[in-house]
Amino acid sequence: MTVAYIVAVAGKGGVGKSTLSALLVRELASRSGKVVLAVDADPNSNLGEKLGVTVERTIGDLREDLLRRSEEITAGGSKQEAMMYQLRLAMVEGREFDLVTMGRSEGRGCYCYINTLLRTYLDSIMDDYPYVVIDNEAGMEHLSRRTCQRMDVLLVVSDATKVGLATAGRILDLAREMELAVGTTMLVINRVRDELPQALRGAVPEGFDRVVLIPYDQSVEDLAASGEPLSSLPKDSTAASAVHRLARELK
Ligand SMILES: Nc1ncnc2c1ncn2[C@@H]1O[C@H](COP(=O)(O)OP(=O)(O)OP(=O)(O)O)[C@@H](O)[C@H]1O
Ligand SMILES: [Mg+2]
Repeated sequence: MTVAYIVAVAGKGGVGKSTLSALLVRELASRSGKVVLAVDADPNSNLGEKLGVTVERTIGDLREDLLRRSEEITAGGSKQEAMMYQLRLAMVEGREFDLVTMGRSEGRGCYCYINTLLRTYLDSIMDDYPYVVIDNEAGMEHLSRRTCQRMDVLLVVSDATKVGLATAGRILDLAREMELAVGTTMLVINRVRDELPQALRGAVPEGFDRVVLIPYDQSVEDLAASGEPLSSLPKDSTAASAVHRLARELK
């Protein structure tokens, strides 16, 4: 069995996590010629939109159903199959990617048991894919919750601001403190116009294995404004080309 190469995308709000996740999914799929697993782990989900697919069911919805039927699930043999079946229902299958949308996790009742099960199953399907890209919610809560067990790359996105860079540094510190199983750490400074302003050079946090710049790309903004998916972004656009180069630094 192959072991999935997991890229977790993190960063403060609005810096371009979902945009880069979607572009990476497309890039890794075309590079490997295989279907990539995309995981939208942001409760305020929009990776589906960026990838150009409609999400009808999230894991959060599924969790509600499972909670209602928890006795069935805890009892014995076919529970694993039932769970896999349910999980598949919450998956959008595409040509280049399969998408799992986590959705909201709050609600009444105790979800710990079901959350653990879901996480276990998600972990178990990951290795069916060569690449997994996880688009996380803003901030660093997800790191403390250990949304995923291990990651080959922690890709922390920042905008070209002092606050963004400081947050990126804190995310890296937290990942280290929590002793997360991380392979490579990468700082991605997004929406950079021309080059990184002189004033920001001293603000780039230390400790990342790599630092990559992605240029500001008007066509990305235009697609977002009209609600069109990034699949329509020309492959030779500046952002897509930069993601192409970034992906070459991965496995
Ligand atoms: N390289 C880029 N050039 C131009 N615009 C960009 C670029 N990257 C992202 N954007 C735009 O920035 C905005 C925020 O991007 P995105 O939604 O990907 O951020 P996010 O970090 O996922 O946000 P959230 O924290 O809300 O999930 C979007 O309008 C997107 O189109
Ligand atoms: Mg997002």
